[in-house]
Amino acid sequence: MADDILTYASERQGILTDATLPMDVEPEIISLRPRRLAEYIGQSRIIETLQIAIAAASHRGEVLEHVLFHGPPGLGKTTLAHIIANEMESKLVVTSGPALEKGGDLVGMLTHLESGDVLFIDEIHRMPKTVEELLYPAMEDFSIDFIFDKGIHARSHRFRLKPFILVGATTRVGLLSAPLRDRFGIFRSLDFYDITDLEKIIRRSSNLLDLTITPEGAAQLAKRSRGTPRIANRLLKRVRDYAQVRADGRITGETVSAALAMEGVDTMGLTSLDRRYLTTIIQYYHGGPVGIEAIAATLQEEADTLVDVVEPFLLKTGLLLRTSAGRKASDTAYGHLDIPRPS
Ligand code: ADE
Repeated sequence: MADDILTYASERQGILTDATLPMDVEPEIISLRPRRLAEYIGQSRIIETLQIAIAAASHRGEVLEHVLFHGPPGLGKTTLAHIIANEMESKLVVTSGPALEKGGDLVGMLTHLESGDVLFIDEIHRMPKTVEELLYPAMEDFSIDFIFDKGIHARSHRFRLKPFILVGATTRVGLLSAPLRDRFGIFRSLDFYDITDLEKIIRRSSNLLDLTITPEGAAQLAKRSRGTPRIANRLLKRVRDYAQVRADGRITGETVSAALAMEGVDTMGLTSLDRRYLTTIIQYYHGGPVGIEAIAATLQEEADTLVDVVEPFLLKTGLLLRTSAGRKASDTAYGHLDIPRPS
């Protein structure tokens, strides 16, 4: 996954040098991201909640409460963290659960935050327990407790932090401990975007990239973007290349179909991994029910990747069913893959 991560060196403190972050922080993608709540398309209830909370906090002269976003990758969790910082006119410091290996990593970041700064922790469910425990008093009282020495000589010293806003993001809210979850004042789950919102996002991105796209082109692309703005924007760039080299540069229904066929994206937006996942259940496990570990072993993929990246959309579209006995392919999955259901 070396292409998917950036080596991130913090300009502010040099603390994060060598920490790795997901492709979320890639500057090219950021340029297509909305910077303000008013520009944000979709997730209207979440946007309204944030508008009210930010306006109220600003009116009271307080910092916003800590915010936790949950949802599959690519739906806007990182974008919303950037927007919160922009709306509060404060600085954003970005890190991730796996990058915070030791307590000192977190302490260094916390002590450098200015009043009202936003600390964004992506994949917060992957933060080590020792680091998580340091975060509790930091979130609750804006303080951290240092323990010196051990045993009967142990002394503790409380260090005051400036009031900051923690924005956490997770694809797996079930893996967060209750004490951590309960310390967020605002908790919202992002859902897949509907076709109408994706069309608007695609038209907005086309404008920013100075592209001509027909209504049919935008509709086709929206239908095949897996309900995910990040995928819509990525596919838009692939279609742009195709239209430029193989056609007259305009993005039409036809260029979208031809370019997405080359990308292995089908009419429902499924990728080759989505299709391999479903055909594995059908062909190796007679349609299920089957456990995730068995599917992962057959596909030679990480079970976590399947749970975080592949399954949410298949569940949402009803191609996959989750039962207490395991995963099952639905009738719709057999139909879509054109595989006859055994009698
Ligand atoms: N680009 C990516 N996601 C977006 C969104 N939700 N609204 C507007 N532009 C976007």
